[in-house]
Amino acid sequence: MTEQQTRPIEARSMGTDLRRVDGVEKVTGRATYAFEHAASDGLADPLHLWLVQSTVAKGRVVDVDGHAALEHAGVVAVIDHTTAPRLDDTTNGELAILQDGAVHFRGQIVALVLAETPEAAREGAALVHVRYDAEPHEAELREDNATYEPDEVNAGQATDTAEGDVDAALAAADVVVDATYRTPYEHNNPIEPHATLAWWGEEDGRPTLTMYDSTQGVHGVVQSLFPMLGLEPDQVRVRAPYVGGGFGSKGEAHAHVMAAALAARTTDGRPVKLAVTRQQMFALTGYRTATISHLRLGARPDGTLTAIEHAVQEQTSAVREYAEQSASPTRMMYAAENRRTSHRLARLDVAVPSWMRAPGEMPGMVALEIAMDELAVAAGVDPIDLRVRNEPEVDPETGKPFNDRRLIECLRRGADRFGWAGRPTEPRATVDGDWWVGTGVASSTYPAMRMPGNAARVRSLDDGRYAVAIGAVDIGTGARTVLTQIAADALGVEADAIALEIADSSLPPASVAGGSSGTSSWGTAIVAAAQRFRADHGDTPDPGVETTASAADDPAMKEYAFHSFGAVFAETRVHRWTGEIRVPRMLGVYSVGRVVNPTTARSQLLGGLVMGLSAALFEESYRDARFGHVVTQDLATYHVASHADVLGIEAEWLEESDDRFNPMGSRGIGEIGIVGTAAAVANAAYHATGVRVRSLPVTADHFLG
Ligand code: MOS
Repeated sequence: MTEQQTRPIEARSMGTDLRRVDGVEKVTGRATYAFEHAASDGLADPLHLWLVQSTVAKGRVVDVDGHAALEHAGVVAVIDHTTAPRLDDTTNGELAILQDGAVHFRGQIVALVLAETPEAAREGAALVHVRYDAEPHEAELREDNATYEPDEVNAGQATDTAEGDVDAALAAADVVVDATYRTPYEHNNPIEPHATLAWWGEEDGRPTLTMYDSTQGVHGVVQSLFPMLGLEPDQVRVRAPYVGGGFGSKGEAHAHVMAAALAARTTDGRPVKLAVTRQQMFALTGYRTATISHLRLGARPDGTLTAIEHAVQEQTSAVREYAEQSASPTRMMYAAENRRTSHRLARLDVAVPSWMRAPGEMPGMVALEIAMDELAVAAGVDPIDLRVRNEPEVDPETGKPFNDRRLIECLRRGADRFGWAGRPTEPRATVDGDWWVGTGVASSTYPAMRMPGNAARVRSLDDGRYAVAIGAVDIGTGARTVLTQIAADALGVEADAIALEIADSSLPPASVAGGSSGTSSWGTAIVAAAQRFRADHGDTPDPGVETTASAADDPAMKEYAFHSFGAVFAETRVHRWTGEIRVPRMLGVYSVGRVVNPTTARSQLLGGLVMGLSAALFEESYRDARFGHVVTQDLATYHVASHADVLGIEAEWLEESDDRFNPMGSRGIGEIGIVGTAAAVANAAYHATGVRVRSLPVTADHFLG
């Protein structure tokens, strides 16, 4: 495959509000989601799969009795660890299901039921009788058990960092903030629960596995499955034409995908359909670990930081390690000569944690940005001035120059727009009827990432249009639309001259729709292929010529610290008699590089702000450590913000183009909206009431008594 050095492209379609190219399919119900593929797609009548989950948190399955289930009308098979197909590779303990009788967490898949209808499968699953040898388990995260030091934390980051003498600087500091902040377990709740449709076939004498899966990355699913199933990558094909959200929960293949693959292996080619229920998602499709952040800030009398320490405690699972990088934003946000960060984990007998919108940045910035607000109060400095005073000249821990750091502009512009001037210095200074009123601010940040291994294909069509193909996935963000705009500008044509093909692992490789890196990674590959195509074939190519290319390594990627920034403002009202909390106004101002499509970008940023509001006020998965599972496992008990909670909310951005980062000048917008938002709400609640809440969610009981 060709590698192409990319040049910036001229923005003609980029920056305009091209309507969602798949909007009509979606609003008319013609968009086909994973579970909906059927005979009309040429598929045989499928069998339906239901998952049987462990009712103990640790131990062994002694016996799976499927007799009653098999006598139930419509039930075709019960598969357990003694009968499931064997896997070649079991290193991914989350995916290596049904290979032995070991139970690692409550909710683990211990048997599969196949039936002619979903109802029969579900009824059959209820009739499967599993006997266990239970062992004592540990399912509670505490300060005294989160002591394990992982080799690295998520995204390949260092577990610990240290510079200077933090203890000495803290001892000598004029102002000190020393406090502990907590964020709860949280679960992603995309509108479309996870679903997989799988079937096996044969090609050239070799077995093949084909899937429709609700995933953030079709190539990622192939990469996870093929070695475990003893196949070559070209024996697995995964498609995800439409996905109803993910937020990270569909970023990695989870055990249910393997369940569908294994079950389908036993059906002589008949497809197997699996819909994960909302309740099952709370055990099977990842979640954000709870975090305990010990923050110590030391400063001079004017608030200038001399020391920053952020020691994180959180949990991982015994069956597979996942360490959230919660201290990572503390490493680059503010200047201070003496700094220390660390992550320690409790390894618990619990479901496997994973990605949730802005892993690391989200919980880490709750702690850091509430602590900064406490420092502002302690030093008697305005919270915005405090952040200006601690603005670093270079990335504090790597020493690299920031590519483009416009945090202060975001803060100042937000302050103007929000009406920050004249804000009372003292808390509990404003009352409106029965409501205490306060305002708060927090910084936001998210790294800008371009993933390796992306390629795209450009082919000229008979009608003068271009087919542009890459195995990327649009999880509802608008990727199909913005990639069409990028391809149009890269080829110098109108958007309607682009026929975009995505969401199929038979297309050129694409990284996950995650880490706010999709547009940057896939867009750069599309630009590389388009620029190579034009160099080889000109702008009036013969029909049917084709170029596949990836972007050549860009040395700038290593020379600069690439991050996006933002400032979030919130007004919080707390009812003086009931403690009820309302957030009538929120404003986020962001520096995210060029915005490719203002409509879809605003949706991403507003969605992030809403999810941050939701975390601030509602979201909390409650695990009953006696049994080891999350008991708040539906939307009646796991509350997410809904329409009535979301009042005035605005997102805007600075005009810019980050030509150093990628040829589009964009940086990524999927996650930054959630970062800092909960802290802004909590800081405003403090300003309203004088009550400092250091844990999420910020609930009414804190303000009573
Ligand atoms: Mo997102 S948590 O990077 O899928």
